[in-house]
Amino acid sequence: MNIDIFTLFPEWFEWFASQRHVSNVVSAGARLQCVNPREYTPLSGGQVDDTPFGGGAGMVLRVDVLESALRGHYGVDPVLLRTRRRVIALAPSGRVLDESLVQELAGEPALTLLCGRYEGFDERILEHFASDVVSIGRYVLSGGELAAMVVCDAVLRKLPGALGHERSASEESFSAALEGNPEYPHYTRPAEYRGWRVPEVLLSGHHERIGDWRRERSRERGEHRRDARSR
Ligand code: 6GU
Repeated sequence: MNIDIFTLFPEWFEWFASQRHVSNVVSAGARLQCVNPREYTPLSGGQVDDTPFGGGAGMVLRVDVLESALRGHYGVDPVLLRTRRRVIALAPSGRVLDESLVQELAGEPALTLLCGRYEGFDERILEHFASDVVSIGRYVLSGGELAAMVVCDAVLRKLPGALGHERSASEESFSAALEGNPEYPHYTRPAEYRGWRVPEVLLSGHHERIGDWRRERSRERGEHRRDARSR
C-alpha cells in the first residue's frame, strides 16, 4: 500500500509515521509520503489559498495550485489520475468513514489523500480531481489532516505486520467474525478490584464457553447500538 498525503502541514505526519503500528507496516512494505502543495504553487510568495468568491470568512484551497501539485508529483492530468487510483479529498461534506469503507480502501494498492485547510477546497477540486470525498463524522475540524490520519490509521492496521501478533484484526469490532457487531468486553488482572469481579467464564480456561460468551456480548452491544440509533 502506497499512501500519498497532500498537506500544507507535512510535519504533522512525522509524529504519526513514527508510531510503532505505522512504522511496522512501513517496514513490511507500505509507504507513507507527504507532498506539500506549497512547493508546487505557480503563484508568488508560496500562495496556495484565496478568499471565497461571494464573500465570507476563511480561505479556500485553490484548484490551480492543487492541479500543479498533483501534476507535478504524478506527471499526469489529475482528471485522469482519479481514474487510475483512489484520490480521496477529506471534507466534512463527504461520505462518512465506516468499517466497510476502511475495508474497501485497505484493498487498494495506492491512495492519495487531499487535506484542505481553513474553509476547505475550491469545489472544482472535489468535482474534477477527487474520486471520493470522505468525512470522519458530522462535526467540523479545522482541516483535513487529523481526518487523513484517522483514515491512515484505520486502513494501515488492516495490513499485514501492523499488529504485534497476528490475531488480530479478524475478530475485532465490526468484523465479519463478529457479524459486524462491536467487540466484546475485555478484562485483565486483577481478577477482582474494589469488589468488581471479572466474569467467571473468562477465568475458566474453557475456550468454547469463552467464545460463546464473547459472541453473545458482542451481539448484545450491537443490539444496543441499533436501538440507540433508532431512538
Ligand atoms: Cl474530513 N475535514 C474537516 N475539515 N472536518 C471534518 C472532517 C473532515 N470529517 C469530519 N469533520
